[in-house]
Amino acid sequence: MSVLRVRTFAVVTGASRGLGRMIAVQLAREIKPGSVIYITARTLGGLEETASIIKQNVNENLDVRCVAADLSDAKEVDQLKKLLFENVGDTSRFEHAILIHNAASLGAIGKFSSELDDVELIQKNCLLNVTAPITLTSFFLKTFKSCKRNLRKTVVQITAVSGINPRKTFHLYGTVKAGRDMFFRVMALEEPEVRILAYDPGFVATEMFNTLQESKDSSLRATAKYIAEQSFFLSPEKSAHALMKALEEDRYESGSVVRCYDVMNIDVTEMDRQLQSK
Ligand SMILES: NC(=O)c1ccc[n+]([C@@H]2O[C@H](COP(=O)([O-])OP(=O)(O)OC[C@H]3O[C@@H](n4cnc5c(N)ncnc54)[C@H](OP(=O)(O)O)[C@@H]3O)[C@@H](O)[C@H]2O)c1
Repeated sequence: MSVLRVRTFAVVTGASRGLGRMIAVQLAREIKPGSVIYITARTLGGLEETASIIKQNVNENLDVRCVAADLSDAKEVDQLKKLLFENVGDTSRFEHAILIHNAASLGAIGKFSSELDDVELIQKNCLLNVTAPITLTSFFLKTFKSCKRNLRKTVVQITAVSGINPRKTFHLYGTVKAGRDMFFRVMALEEPEVRILAYDPGFVATEMFNTLQESKDSSLRATAKYIAEQSFFLSPEKSAHALMKALEEDRYESGSVVRCYDVMNIDVTEMDRQLQSK
């Protein structure tokens, strides 16, 4: 039986542009009529554009719901979790519930670690990248827990190699990615009936990637320019497509990291070696 081609309740965060938009579009292409897909980010205009791409190119009848919310604001996270999960209604009409934590920010890459003296900035970073995904997941699981056993539950969190390999100015970014990876590894042990995937999307041509040029570290800026010229630099479409493939094949160990390049059978041993030396 297909994992994705079923009646689905889906939430995709950070879907107003970039990878999140393409994940929402490609998920919409897979799921069956009767599905509901919530897309969220701060910019309503971007979300509406994503919804219109889905309506025009994928399925004009799909129930796509746009919700603007700032995940770095505790009150808005609270409102969002109620809005998403308190009115789901009869959960048994769905065969799959999937929550995709894609929204993220690079943090204060214009500074070095020793300059991070702003408590609020650090708190907001943690809220967006760690606290919000944790609390949304808790609400998501409570909502679908009592549902019949054959409802598949999946949580995807978009991770990055920056959570494993240290790089100058990736202090906050690397910390939240590493922390979030560990949180979901623990949850995978505690919740064996939930499928949990940490997806490393590779290097992707998005606004976030362009923002790397704001790093205080000149070698990071140069590496980003180098990456942008390589064949392993991906479009959001390609990376989102590999995520759909990983979900559909369903071969990953719950809680583990799946690299986009592995799903696409692209050998990046040489790339890894070169990037380590830069
Ligand atoms: N691009 C890459 O090369 C790369 C590599 C490894 C991992 N990743 C990961 O891939 C995911 C997607 O990144 P991307 O490259 O597509 O980035 P992006 O183009 O910057 O998009 C980020 C998304 O997150 C949303 N967002 C940012 N701050 C938010 C906030 N405070 N509250 C709610 N939503 C917020 C943005 O929407 P609004 O601004 O409208 O809120 C946007 O929709 C991230 O988890 C990133 O860490 C990317």
